[in-house]
Amino acid sequence: MATGLNEKIFKEAVCYLPGGVNSPVRSFKSVGGTPVFMKSGRGSKIYSLDNREFIDYCLGWGALILGHSHPAITKELKNQAEKGTSLGTATKQETEFAKLIAGAVPSIEQVRLTNSGTEAVMVAVRLARAFSGKRKIIRFAGSYHGHADYFLDCPGVPGEFKKHTLTCHYNNIENTAEMIEKNKGDMAGIIVEPVAGNTGVILPEKRFLPELKNLCLKYGIILIFDEVITGFRFRFGGFQDITGIKPDITCLGKIIGGGLPVGACGGKKEIMRMLSPSGDVFHAGTFAGNSMSVSAGMAALKTLEKTLPYKKMTELTKELCEGIKSLAKESGIKLKINYIGPLFSIFLTGEDVKDWTSAKKQDTEDFKRFYHGLLKEGIYFSPSCFEANFVSSAHTKNDINKTLQAIKKVFKNS
Ligand SMILES: Cc1ncc(COP(=O)(O)O)c(C=O)c1O
Repeated sequence: MATGLNEKIFKEAVCYLPGGVNSPVRSFKSVGGTPVFMKSGRGSKIYSLDNREFIDYCLGWGALILGHSHPAITKELKNQAEKGTSLGTATKQETEFAKLIAGAVPSIEQVRLTNSGTEAVMVAVRLARAFSGKRKIIRFAGSYHGHADYFLDCPGVPGEFKKHTLTCHYNNIENTAEMIEKNKGDMAGIIVEPVAGNTGVILPEKRFLPELKNLCLKYGIILIFDEVITGFRFRFGGFQDITGIKPDITCLGKIIGGGLPVGACGGKKEIMRMLSPSGDVFHAGTFAGNSMSVSAGMAALKTLEKTLPYKKMTELTKELCEGIKSLAKESGIKLKINYIGPLFSIFLTGEDVKDWTSAKKQDTEDFKRFYHGLLKEGIYFSPSCFEANFVSSAHTKNDINKTLQAIKKVFKNS
């Protein structure tokens, strides 16, 4: 039941917040219309200010792998709030948290906690440059590694700031090898999302990550896996543990904060100890390792370790994605779905999507209609065709069935 309340609140929001939001993609600019203002979330559902219920596949942009308001996390947060939210001192909890992460992700021996994935990536890049004594960083087209200046093309970023950032095509090892050869002698690092999430989900082709690792070994380049989305997503550890490829540095975020702001950068001791205060590479943070984020993160990771919901989430995602494919076929709609574990994206295109160039070929206007059709049916996908969607441990077979029914209806009306 749309009441106009949403539009009214948005109108006020744009008076006080640029674009009415605090992070751009939330504004619905990519899908059009007014963003739905939410007031609460529980399990697999979120609830709007005008009292509509939605099955949520955005899940706090992937942070909420256990669903909204998971009781184990809520309980820990209540306890911790009584004891102090941010002591600003060394705490035993931080060591326990780092130990848990290092135990789960074998390439990580030491961890630096930050307040966001952006910050974790900034620390990783600084370390790669300091350790190698070189300057150039390769990233892949369409990837997102947070909003550090040297990864952005936008007003306010002087061109000089980006002159050491090189862009290659994801899943194209020849192109990457050429770029390295051209810049050898000044190559510090390669940063890659092992499963690309910010182009919409794109899986790495079989030889891509192993050959990337070989190139790094051959040329003495630091390999950074940005596992802000993939970390603890497919198993209790990193995507690197599935491939067996160890990066030198790993960035984490989202899931490890249990729904609170967090990031982490981890790797071998010989690299990590270059960070201040044991080394001279500077990083600091008033709230880095704060007690609320660490408590929520510990509760999330311990719950994941105990319950291992990965198989269930993977099965539900497969059922959903295969179901959507069948419905599209019945309705004569061209689409491709990339999915792995509990991560998926729907591309309205007839072509396989394996890099940024192919992702951009989808029909963004069709996606807008599809998106709003689903919203009307109470399904909340990430509001952009270039974003990933997520299934949580709180999602049920009933949620998947309802979603498929909604999609059937939307396809029929399209
Ligand atoms: C792969 C990746 N790296 C880094 C970031 C930045 O994390 P944050 O938004 O916590 O700064 C994101 C955010 O979505 C991401 O997807």
